[in-house]
This record gives sequence, C-alpha cells and structure tokens, in this order.
Amino acid sequence: MAVGVLCAVQGTAESILVQAMEGSGGRLSVTRRCADLTELLAAAEAGLGTLAVVSVDLDQLDRESVDLLHRAGVRIVGVADPARPWLAERLTSFGADLVVDAPGDEADASDVVRDALRVLDAAVHDRTRELPVQSPGALGAPAAPGAGPGPASERGSVVAVWGPTGAPGRTTVAVNVAAELAAGAPTLLVDADTYGGCVAQVVGMLDEAPGLAAAARAAGQGTLDVTTLARLSPTIAPDLRVLSGISRADRWPELPSSSLEPVWSVARSLARWTVVDCGFCLEQDEILSYDTRAPRRNAATVSALEAADLVLVVGSGDPVGIQRLVRGLGELTDQGLGSSRVVLVNRVRASVAGPRPAEAVARALARYAGVTDAILVPEDRPALDTALLEARTLREVVPGSPARRALAAVAARVESTLSSGALVG
Ligand SMILES: Nc1ncnc2c1ncn2[C@@H]1O[C@H](COP(=O)(O)OP(=O)(O)O)[C@@H](O)[C@H]1O
Ligand SMILES: [Mg+2]
Repeated sequence: MAVGVLCAVQGTAESILVQAMEGSGGRLSVTRRCADLTELLAAAEAGLGTLAVVSVDLDQLDRESVDLLHRAGVRIVGVADPARPWLAERLTSFGADLVVDAPGDEADASDVVRDALRVLDAAVHDRTRELPVQSPGALGAPAAPGAGPGPASERGSVVAVWGPTGAPGRTTVAVNVAAELAAGAPTLLVDADTYGGCVAQVVGMLDEAPGLAAAARAAGQGTLDVTTLARLSPTIAPDLRVLSGISRADRWPELPSSSLEPVWSVARSLARWTVVDCGFCLEQDEILSYDTRAPRRNAATVSALEAADLVLVVGSGDPVGIQRLVRGLGELTDQGLGSSRVVLVNRVRASVAGPRPAEAVARALARYAGVTDAILVPEDRPALDTALLEARTLREVVPGSPARRALAAVAARVESTLSSGALVG
C-alpha cells in the first residue's frame, strides 16, 4: 500500500516533487497538498499521511510543530533552499528526520523520493524504537550555535523541587536551596509553577521580567542559546540568576514541554545548578491527551521532573501533609519520575506532631513510605516572615535561624549527591 504523503512545499519545487512521488512505483501517494502549517497539522492529526514533505521556511514551522507531527506518527522531510543553509540546520535541530536541498529537476526529485523512502524504511525496520515522543533534536542538543552541550563533566545539574498540593513549602525550599548552592557555584533558579508561581516576588524582583515563557518561545523558534538565557535571567545576588515564571496563571499554554526541554539543556551550560520550582500537579488529562495539539498545564512540571538529576520532594510536617507526601511519592514512582530523590519534611512542629515531632515524622515516613533519610526543616515563622518582608533569602537576612540551617543542610546533600556522581535511587 502506498504511503500517504502530506506535501507542504512552496515554490517551483512543489510540482516537481509531487510528480516524482506519484511516479514512485506506487510506494508514495500525495494525499494532501497543504497551503500552510495549520492545514498540515490538521491533516497529520486526521491520519491522512505518514510522511510530511515541508519547506524549511514554512511559516511558523517550529520545534513544537515537528514534535506534534512526530506524535501524530508522521516522519518529516524538510526541503531547503541551498542559499539559506541555516534554515536547514534549524529544522534538523528541531528533529526533522531528513533535510534535503530543493530539487531543480526531475532527476533531483527522484533522488529526494529515494531518500524519503529510506527514512520510511528505517522507521519500519526500527521496530524496537517507537516514534519519538519528543523530537530527537529537543532531547540533547540545543539548536543555536554556542549552546552545544559541553563535555559531560562541564554540564550543570538540574534539581527539581516538587511537592503535593497544600503549599508544603516548595517555593521556600527552591529559593533558599538555590541561594545556598549559589554560594558555591553559578546557580539558576527557575519558576515553573503554572498554578501560582511567585518566585520573582519572593526574591524581590520588581521589574516584570519575561522569564521562562520568553525562554520557551526562543527555544521553540530555535534561537535559545546561553547568551539569550542569561539575558532573560537577571542576577539577583552573586552567582544567582532567576528565570521568573508566568506572571498570570492563565498563560500556562506558553510553556509546552517540547520548548522546555531545550531550556533545561541550555541551563546546564549556563549554570552549575539549575533549581526548578515546580507546580504540585502531575496529572495528565486523559481526554486532552487524545488531542496531541492540546497544551497541558502540567507539562512544565513534568518536563522539569523528567529532566531533573535529582528531585527534592517537599511535604508538610502535619498529619494531612505527611499523608499527601506518602501519596505523592507513590505518584512519582508510578509515573517513573524522580528516581533520584531527597525527601524533605517542612514545618515540623510539636503543636501538630506531638512532643517529639521529629521522631514522629521520621517514624511515619519510614512506616508508610519506606523513607529513612528524610531531612526535616522546623517550623520557623519568625525567620520566614523576616525573609518574606524583606523579599530576601534566609541566608541573607537570618543566617543563624533554624530553618536556614536545615535548608543549608539540604543544599549540602544536593552537592554531595550530585558532585560525587553517586546517585542514590
Ligand atoms: N519552615 C517554615 N516555617 C514557617 N513557615 C514556612 C516554612 N516553610 C514555608 N513556610 C510558609 O508557608 C507558606 C507556603 O510556602 P511556599 O513555599 O509558598 O509553599 P508552596 O510553594 O509549596 O506553595 C509561605 O507563607 C511560607 O512562608
Ligand atoms: Mg510555590
């Protein structure tokens, strides 16, 4: 049976290519000639073809659209203008399966058909590998020059801070652990909470910085490099940069996971430590997920957790908080996330956990979650209030406070876990 081809090629190459494909001995059949990207994506989702042949300069063609085509089970062959090689490189970096020069005549066009058939054959023979969920280009190498991954030893680590619903203190932990890590090496603090991100406010950033949404946009267009990411993340203390979150909760569709993966990758080149404050929710909406184009509100959190070398899991030290933490740990495991994790119980206090709160919490965690090495952070309202009021970190304003000492110990655990390379599961 002929493979259905969706053709979105502009200019004179289009008719030459269509002819060549129709003359391919019945192996390829053009099922739709698309005028623009919208039509191409719609045809792909309707299952009208398994190969897309597209001009590399098709309007709005970006990393996300390549990702969407792949998820719809469509392979992508880009057709490039040899005079503008950077467009070909860009589409390759987005994860296109093949990019060829636009054919000038019939002979060139049959070469293109032959190469496209090879791509399809490779896909069929390679049965062990499913169609990529993310574009291959998004997984490792950022697109722009200068942002290429360095040797593994020079790449920074990503630490995601996650915790269940109920405001257990994810932001408090992310901000203060980042501040501690920054005392030793360049650190980037990222607000990826799509429900109520407030890192910028907590650290006293007055200007509305474009932050993570702008970085994701640049990544989607293939222009995110270390310099751009640095420009988007102002320095608020020596060696501490902040990539602020979306300023309004309804802007979450601006953070698709396909654009965030390159952000984490470039962040590893910018900073030794990237600390990501995540949202609480891991649910992937089943109904929405039928629609491969629907953005997902939890994509930012899930993408950070997937990228993370270590996850700090934060729970609250009261009975409800512990129960949510135990469930949250199970949820992470079920979704295959956070295999390297450090568990933290925050706001530990006698008034709700009994006269020996630390022992009670440790016992409950060992019994219900099998966690025996959690770090406990005491309730410390005066210290947190001082920091909030001044919009500074604990390290800066109340260095001797109990909460700061405990959070410094968390940072030390992060350093020792990731610096020695001895990851514990
Ligand atoms: N150890 C602590 N002692 C006292 N208050 C805390 C502590 N940790 C966090 N808080 C307070 O709890 C509230 C919620 O913390 P936050 O970090 O914003 O939670 P989340 O990011 O999980 O929603 C904030 O008012 C914060 O100051
Ligand atoms: Mg928060």
